[in-house]
Amino acid sequence: METVISQLKGESDETRFSDAAEILKKGGLVAFPTETVYGLGADATNEEAVAAIYRAKGRPSDNPLIVHIGTADEIGRYAVKVPDSAWKCAEAFWPGPLTLIVRAKPGVFAPSVTAGLDTVGLRMPSHPAALGLLKTSGLPVAAPSANTSGKPSPTRAEHVAADMGGKIPYILDGGPTGIGIESTVLDLTSEPPAILRPGAVTADMLRPVIGEVSQSAEAADAGEEAPRAPGMKYTHYSPDAPVWLIEPDRNQIRNAVRRLKEEGRRIALVAPEGFGETGADWYFPTGRQNDPASVSGELYASLRACDGTDADIVLAATVDDAGIGGAVMNRLNKAAAGRMFRV
Ligand code: TXA
Ligand code: MG
Repeated sequence: METVISQLKGESDETRFSDAAEILKKGGLVAFPTETVYGLGADATNEEAVAAIYRAKGRPSDNPLIVHIGTADEIGRYAVKVPDSAWKCAEAFWPGPLTLIVRAKPGVFAPSVTAGLDTVGLRMPSHPAALGLLKTSGLPVAAPSANTSGKPSPTRAEHVAADMGGKIPYILDGGPTGIGIESTVLDLTSEPPAILRPGAVTADMLRPVIGEVSQSAEAADAGEEAPRAPGMKYTHYSPDAPVWLIEPDRNQIRNAVRRLKEEGRRIALVAPEGFGETGADWYFPTGRQNDPASVSGELYASLRACDGTDADIVLAATVDDAGIGGAVMNRLNKAAAGRMFRV
């Protein structure tokens, strides 16, 4: 299949949105930018189309998809027993990087969207291209991140093309996404509401709006209970070579690199700007130190870039876990399966 990559220009984009919307209406797949990562979209009411998402990604069928909507009102159309907290969250954080897990209205979505659960994740994204596509099509759009399952999520159209080229007909290219890591997933069906996947909207931001919030992502990750966001149990976000975390300290990194080189290893370093002189074979500057939001924007591009090298080990610098830093550390810990390099 030929994959058309259509660059958004800010003008005449309506034509591109209608082309993309036509494909969705006919049951095809369209990749589109959001403010977090690129999504791989299908009409959420069309089972064939949704099945094609799972095939294109190689995604396990027990991992449900997020449904993207163009207006907050649609919560009422697609969910039942909607708690007040959902409307409060929508008011405070939509459009934006927050997915709300609510009870799905039976019989609306294709069964594969919810992977057999009676709940659904709804999100109204803020990226103008995502909103343009949602409003032009008028459809609820099921969209996981547009990567091959197990790879870091795509934050640029090139990443989507690398994973999905030849498998999908259309990519809307809106340049690099801003936030760079996936939305916060908040389960509003539990009491208190629980963060199943940390993201740019943090517990500290949610509490003033809806009161107590629990952070169960760590418990889900530890594998001690059935994961509540099924996606959290799979290895994610990893380049091909094993990742080890390391503190963003020049001496520690230099020593680690020296030791690894003695063992004949080829090293890729993912660290903030200013860590160029450590002797690593490849260095991918990733944001600025003490500015986790800048790291979040570039992290996945750097992890993907490691796959373009012959490195057999990736050293990735940790970030302070305040604010979005907590979500960045969640992804880094997954990429590294918790391994920390100590010299
Ligand atoms: O930022 C994002 O959320 C991006 C963009 C494209 O919107 N999408 C995204 O989707 O990251 P995906 O499919 O890669 O991740 C969705 C996560 C998975 O961990 C999945 O298990 C969880 O949300 N999820 C979806 N529906 C759920 C449900 N009903 N209950 C619990 N977890 C759910
Ligand atoms: Mg994903």
